[in-house]
Amino acid sequence: MRVVVLTGAGISAESGVRTFRDDGGLWEGHDVNAVATPEGFARDRELVQRFYDARRRSLAHVEPNPAHLALARLEEELGEDLLVVTQNVDDLHERAGSRRVVHMHGELLRAACEACGSRPRWEEDLLPSPPCPVCGARALRPDVVWFGEVPYELDRIGRAVSGCDLFVSVGTSGSVYPAAGYVSLAASSGAHTLELNLEPSEGSRFFDEVRTGPAGRLVPEWVEELLGG
Ligand code: APR
Repeated sequence: MRVVVLTGAGISAESGVRTFRDDGGLWEGHDVNAVATPEGFARDRELVQRFYDARRRSLAHVEPNPAHLALARLEEELGEDLLVVTQNVDDLHERAGSRRVVHMHGELLRAACEACGSRPRWEEDLLPSPPCPVCGARALRPDVVWFGEVPYELDRIGRAVSGCDLFVSVGTSGSVYPAAGYVSLAASSGAHTLELNLEPSEGSRFFDEVRTGPAGRLVPEWVEELLGG
Protein backbone atom coordinates (compact mmCIF):
# COMPACT_ATOMS: atom_id res chain seq x y z
CA MET A 1 0.00 0.00 0.00
CA ARG A 2 1.39 3.40 -0.98
CA VAL A 3 0.86 6.06 1.65
CA VAL A 4 1.40 9.82 1.56
CA VAL A 5 1.31 11.75 4.83
CA LEU A 6 1.00 15.51 4.58
CA THR A 7 2.05 17.30 7.76
CA GLY A 8 1.61 20.87 8.96
CA ALA A 9 2.44 22.96 11.98
CA GLY A 10 0.03 20.99 14.20
CA ILE A 11 2.27 17.91 14.21
CA SER A 12 5.04 19.92 15.86
CA ALA A 13 2.76 21.80 18.28
CA GLU A 14 3.21 19.29 21.09
CA SER A 15 6.99 19.62 20.66
CA GLY A 16 6.61 23.30 21.50
CA VAL A 17 6.82 24.76 17.98
CA ARG A 18 4.16 27.42 17.53
CA THR A 19 1.56 26.98 14.81
CA PHE A 20 0.79 29.84 12.46
CA ARG A 21 -2.89 30.58 12.73
CA ASP A 22 -4.12 29.53 16.15
CA ASP A 23 -4.48 31.84 19.13
CA GLY A 24 -1.02 32.90 20.12
CA GLY A 25 0.24 31.59 16.76
CA LEU A 26 3.54 32.49 15.23
CA TRP A 27 2.23 35.41 13.26
CA GLU A 28 0.97 37.14 16.38
CA GLY A 29 2.81 40.39 16.68
CA HIS A 30 4.20 40.07 13.13
CA ASP A 31 2.73 41.26 9.90
CA VAL A 32 2.81 38.18 7.66
CA ASN A 33 3.59 40.39 4.69
CA ALA A 34 6.59 41.79 6.50
CA VAL A 35 8.23 38.47 7.39
CA ALA A 36 6.90 35.95 4.89
CA THR A 37 6.99 37.57 1.46
CA PRO A 38 9.81 38.49 -0.96
CA GLU A 39 8.53 42.08 -0.83
CA GLY A 40 8.86 42.18 2.95
CA PHE A 41 12.42 40.88 2.65
CA ALA A 42 13.31 43.51 0.05
CA ARG A 43 11.89 46.18 2.35
CA ASP A 44 13.65 45.17 5.55
CA ARG A 45 16.21 42.36 5.24
CA GLU A 46 17.40 42.78 8.79
CA LEU A 47 13.95 42.33 10.35
CA VAL A 48 13.30 39.19 8.31
CA GLN A 49 16.74 37.66 8.99
CA ARG A 50 16.27 38.34 12.70
CA PHE A 51 12.84 36.65 12.66
CA TYR A 52 14.17 33.45 11.04
CA ASP A 53 17.41 33.49 13.07
CA ALA A 54 15.22 33.35 16.19
CA ARG A 55 13.15 30.51 14.76
CA ARG A 56 16.30 28.58 13.76
CA ARG A 57 17.78 29.02 17.24
CA SER A 58 14.57 27.82 18.86
CA LEU A 59 14.98 24.41 17.17
CA ALA A 60 17.70 23.65 19.71
CA HIS A 61 15.05 23.64 22.43
CA VAL A 62 12.50 21.26 20.88
CA GLU A 63 12.38 17.49 20.38
CA PRO A 64 10.31 15.19 18.15
CA ASN A 65 7.06 14.02 19.78
CA PRO A 66 5.23 10.66 19.51
CA ALA A 67 3.61 11.72 16.22
CA HIS A 68 6.97 12.26 14.48
CA LEU A 69 8.30 9.04 16.00
CA ALA A 70 5.28 7.04 14.82
CA LEU A 71 5.80 8.22 11.23
CA ALA A 72 9.47 7.21 11.40
CA ARG A 73 8.37 3.80 12.62
CA LEU A 74 5.88 3.57 9.75
CA GLU A 75 8.71 4.27 7.30
CA GLU A 76 10.69 1.38 8.80
CA GLU A 77 7.82 -0.88 7.80
CA LEU A 78 6.71 0.63 4.51
CA GLY A 79 10.05 1.89 3.17
CA GLU A 80 9.60 3.50 -0.23
CA ASP A 81 5.85 3.08 -0.04
CA LEU A 82 5.69 5.97 2.44
CA LEU A 83 6.38 9.59 1.61
CA VAL A 84 6.07 12.35 4.20
CA VAL A 85 5.33 15.70 2.61
CA THR A 86 5.74 18.42 5.19
CA GLN A 87 4.92 22.10 5.11
CA ASN A 88 7.06 22.50 8.20
CA VAL A 89 10.48 24.11 8.12
CA ASP A 90 11.64 22.43 11.33
CA ASP A 91 13.75 19.23 11.28
CA LEU A 92 11.68 17.15 13.69
CA HIS A 93 10.73 14.46 11.16
CA GLU A 94 14.41 13.86 10.39
CA ARG A 95 15.38 13.89 14.04
CA ALA A 96 12.68 11.28 14.70
CA GLY A 97 14.30 9.06 12.05
CA SER A 98 12.23 9.72 8.90
CA ARG A 99 14.33 9.76 5.72
CA ARG A 100 11.73 10.07 2.98
CA VAL A 101 10.65 13.62 3.76
CA VAL A 102 9.91 16.41 1.28
CA HIS A 103 10.06 19.92 2.73
CA MET A 104 7.78 21.69 0.30
CA HIS A 105 8.12 25.02 2.15
CA GLY A 106 11.88 24.74 2.66
CA GLU A 107 13.95 24.29 5.79
CA LEU A 108 15.17 26.57 8.54
CA LEU A 109 18.43 24.63 8.55
CA ARG A 110 19.28 25.64 5.00
CA ALA A 111 20.16 28.95 3.47
CA ALA A 112 19.52 29.89 -0.14
CA CYS A 113 22.02 32.05 -2.03
CA GLU A 114 20.36 34.72 -4.14
CA ALA A 115 23.58 35.06 -6.17
CA CYS A 116 24.44 31.47 -7.15
CA GLY A 117 21.26 29.56 -6.28
CA SER A 118 22.99 27.08 -3.96
CA ARG A 119 21.13 25.82 -0.87
CA PRO A 120 23.78 25.03 1.73
CA ARG A 121 22.94 23.47 5.06
CA TRP A 122 22.96 26.31 7.58
CA GLU A 123 22.83 26.23 11.37
CA GLU A 124 24.13 29.69 12.26
CA ASP A 125 22.49 33.11 12.20
CA LEU A 126 22.17 34.84 8.83
CA LEU A 127 22.70 38.21 10.45
CA PRO A 128 25.05 39.96 9.89
CA SER A 129 25.27 38.70 6.29
CA PRO A 130 27.84 35.86 6.16
CA PRO A 131 29.41 34.94 2.78
CA CYS A 132 27.90 32.11 0.74
CA PRO A 133 30.14 29.03 1.20
CA VAL A 134 29.85 28.31 -2.52
CA CYS A 135 30.31 31.67 -4.27
CA GLY A 136 31.31 34.07 -1.49
CA ALA A 137 28.51 36.58 -2.14
CA ARG A 138 26.84 38.04 0.93
CA ALA A 139 23.46 37.14 -0.48
CA LEU A 140 22.12 34.37 1.73
CA ARG A 141 18.46 34.24 2.78
CA PRO A 142 16.50 31.65 4.75
CA ASP A 143 15.60 28.70 2.51
CA VAL A 144 11.95 29.13 3.38
CA VAL A 145 9.20 29.40 0.76
CA TRP A 146 7.33 32.65 1.24
CA PHE A 147 3.86 33.66 0.06
CA GLY A 148 4.02 34.27 -3.68
CA GLU A 149 6.91 31.82 -4.15
CA VAL A 150 6.72 28.35 -5.65
CA PRO A 151 7.01 25.41 -3.20
CA TYR A 152 9.71 22.80 -3.73
CA GLU A 153 9.36 19.45 -5.52
CA LEU A 154 5.81 19.93 -6.74
CA ASP A 155 6.22 17.36 -9.53
CA ARG A 156 7.46 14.66 -7.17
CA ILE A 157 4.71 15.42 -4.67
CA GLY A 158 2.02 15.45 -7.35
CA ARG A 159 3.13 12.05 -8.63
CA ALA A 160 3.18 10.56 -5.13
CA VAL A 161 -0.22 11.99 -4.16
CA SER A 162 -1.95 10.93 -7.36
CA GLY A 163 -0.38 7.47 -7.10
CA CYS A 164 -1.12 6.72 -3.45
CA ASP A 165 -3.73 4.39 -1.96
CA LEU A 166 -4.01 6.26 1.33
CA PHE A 167 -3.58 9.99 1.91
CA VAL A 168 -3.34 11.23 5.49
CA SER A 169 -3.20 14.85 6.56
CA VAL A 170 -1.86 15.68 10.02
CA GLY A 171 -2.05 19.03 11.80
CA THR A 172 -2.65 21.41 8.95
CA SER A 173 -5.37 24.03 8.68
CA GLY A 174 -5.86 23.34 4.96
CA SER A 175 -5.72 27.02 4.15
CA VAL A 176 -2.55 27.25 2.07
CA TYR A 177 -2.37 25.92 -1.49
CA PRO A 178 -1.14 23.83 -3.21
CA ALA A 179 -0.93 21.61 -0.09
CA ALA A 180 -4.60 22.20 0.71
CA GLY A 181 -5.54 20.75 -2.68
CA TYR A 182 -3.73 17.44 -2.31
CA VAL A 183 -6.66 15.74 -0.58
CA SER A 184 -8.81 16.31 -3.66
CA LEU A 185 -6.05 15.12 -5.99
CA ALA A 186 -5.63 11.94 -3.93
CA ALA A 187 -9.39 11.34 -3.76
CA SER A 188 -9.85 11.84 -7.48
CA SER A 189 -7.17 9.23 -8.06
CA GLY A 190 -9.05 6.74 -5.90
CA ALA A 191 -7.17 6.99 -2.60
CA HIS A 192 -8.81 6.78 0.80
CA THR A 193 -8.33 10.10 2.62
CA LEU A 194 -7.98 10.63 6.36
CA GLU A 195 -7.55 13.82 8.34
CA LEU A 196 -5.96 13.84 11.80
CA ASN A 197 -6.25 17.27 13.38
CA LEU A 198 -6.90 18.88 16.73
CA GLU A 199 -10.19 20.25 15.45
CA PRO A 200 -12.13 20.20 12.16
CA SER A 201 -10.23 22.28 9.59
CA GLU A 202 -11.16 24.28 6.51
CA GLY A 203 -10.43 21.16 4.48
CA SER A 204 -12.27 18.58 6.61
CA ARG A 205 -15.20 18.30 4.22
CA PHE A 206 -12.92 16.94 1.50
CA PHE A 207 -11.80 13.90 3.53
CA ASP A 208 -13.44 10.47 3.67
CA GLU A 209 -12.68 10.27 7.37
CA VAL A 210 -11.84 12.88 10.02
CA ARG A 211 -10.43 12.16 13.47
CA THR A 212 -10.00 15.00 15.93
CA GLY A 213 -7.50 15.11 18.78
CA PRO A 214 -3.84 15.83 19.42
CA ALA A 215 -1.40 14.47 16.84
CA GLY A 216 0.74 12.95 19.61
CA ARG A 217 -2.08 10.55 20.33
CA LEU A 218 -3.87 10.19 16.96
CA VAL A 219 -0.82 9.46 14.80
CA PRO A 220 0.60 6.62 16.95
CA GLU A 221 -2.92 5.13 17.20
CA TRP A 222 -3.39 5.27 13.44
CA VAL A 223 0.07 3.78 12.74
CA GLU A 224 -0.59 0.90 15.15
CA GLU A 225 -3.93 0.29 13.48
CA LEU A 226 -2.36 0.25 10.02
CA LEU A 227 0.52 -2.02 10.97
CA GLY A 228 -1.58 -4.26 13.15
CA GLY A 229 -4.37 -4.69 10.63
N1 APR B 1 -2.37 18.09 17.08
C1 APR B 1 -2.98 18.13 15.86
N2 APR B 1 -3.31 19.26 15.24
C2 APR B 1 -3.03 20.42 15.86
C3 APR B 1 -2.40 20.47 17.12
C4 APR B 1 -2.07 19.22 17.74
N3 APR B 1 -1.48 19.15 18.93
N4 APR B 1 -2.25 21.77 17.48
C5 APR B 1 -2.77 22.50 16.48
N5 APR B 1 -3.26 21.69 15.50
C6 APR B 1 -3.89 22.06 14.24
C7 APR B 1 -4.69 23.33 14.28
O1 APR B 1 -6.02 23.06 14.71
C8 APR B 1 -4.63 23.80 12.85
O2 APR B 1 -5.68 23.26 12.06
O3 APR B 1 -2.86 22.30 13.30
C9 APR B 1 -3.30 23.24 12.33
C10 APR B 1 -2.20 24.27 12.15
O4 APR B 1 -2.58 25.14 11.12
P1 APR B 1 -1.65 26.35 10.65
O5 APR B 1 -1.15 27.09 11.83
O6 APR B 1 -2.39 27.09 9.61
O7 APR B 1 -0.37 25.61 10.01
P2 APR B 1 -0.19 24.97 8.57
O8 APR B 1 -1.45 24.35 8.09
O9 APR B 1 1.02 24.10 8.65
O10 APR B 1 0.14 26.23 7.68
C11 APR B 1 0.44 26.04 6.33
O11 APR B 1 1.06 28.32 6.04
O12 APR B 1 2.08 30.25 6.68
C12 APR B 1 2.19 29.16 5.94
O13 APR B 1 4.18 28.29 5.12
C13 APR B 1 3.39 28.33 6.28
O14 APR B 1 3.66 25.95 6.11
C14 APR B 1 2.82 26.98 6.59
C15 APR B 1 1.49 27.01 5.86
